Amino acid sequence: MKIVTVNVNKGGAGKTTLSFNLTEYMRKESRVLLLDFDDSANLTNRYGYFEDKKNTVINLFDKKEIEPIHVAENLDLIAGHKEVELLKERLASRRRREYIFGTWLAENEEWLTKTYDYIIIDTENDEGLLTLNAIIVSDIVIGVAEASKDSFLSLISLRKFVTDLNVEFNGDTKLIFVANKISNDNPSKELIEDLSEYEEYAGYMPQRTVLKDDKSIFSSKNYRDKVVAKQMAELFAGLKVKFDEVTI
Ligand SMILES: Nc1ncnc2c1ncn2[C@@H]1O[C@H](COP(=O)(O)OP(=O)(O)OP(=O)(O)O)[C@@H](O)[C@H]1O
Ligand SMILES: [Mg+2]
Repeated sequence: MKIVTVNVNKGGAGKTTLSFNLTEYMRKESRVLLLDFDDSANLTNRYGYFEDKKNTVINLFDKKEIEPIHVAENLDLIAGHKEVELLKERLASRRRREYIFGTWLAENEEWLTKTYDYIIIDTENDEGLLTLNAIIVSDIVIGVAEASKDSFLSLISLRKFVTDLNVEFNGDTKLIFVANKISNDNPSKELIEDLSEYEEYAGYMPQRTVLKDDKSIFSSKNYRDKVVAKQMAELFAGLKVKFDEVTI
């Protein structure tokens, strides 16, 4: 079982779009547990509306009973919740607060490894406590950037953040960069050029209205969507090779 976190400290870069499409791609052949650590619960909303805290990250972090929701074939979800901000305040004074998620993983290791091939975590645009909990247990962190200087610099900050956490928490989390909203314009070309200098760079998602959709690109019957689906599948096949290269 591999753990993949999608993060960058920049709003709107495409974390949720990447998490959703990666999940939809991976669940074709692998069993996925998806976690939504973002209080906006944008990703959760794509799979339904879940009121019961039993199914949410709130209960996971409060160390209460937790039940992943079966939302689609090969896919279970631990839902996001609007009270995540309050949760973070509550956890701020807890001892070993960086390890809460890691402890839950360790306590549930047996059935988790039997049940899932991948855990995918969508996070907020922050370096907060839930993000920290996710990154320090992850095999891979994917950072995503759109074509702006700020967005690019956020990826560079993420690189330092992951490196620092690896030192502080004795980890070996690998980092992957993905560019997003790429078109034929000059800012897009410059971003790809800049990112290509980094060994972390693994490819891009194109700028396409269809990717704003709540439905999976991989199940669309529309011919024009299929072109985008093929492009996304190539990106994710490449990412999967990188995931599988990581030894645990
Ligand atoms: N490749 C793309 N093509 C077209 N629209 C996109 C693409 N990627 C993302 N978007 C749109 O851009 C907006 C921001 O994307 P998304 O929600 O994935 O970013 P985020 O990093 O998760 O944001 P937040 O920090 O708020 O969680 C959304 O409206 C999304 O539909
Ligand atoms: Mg998001």
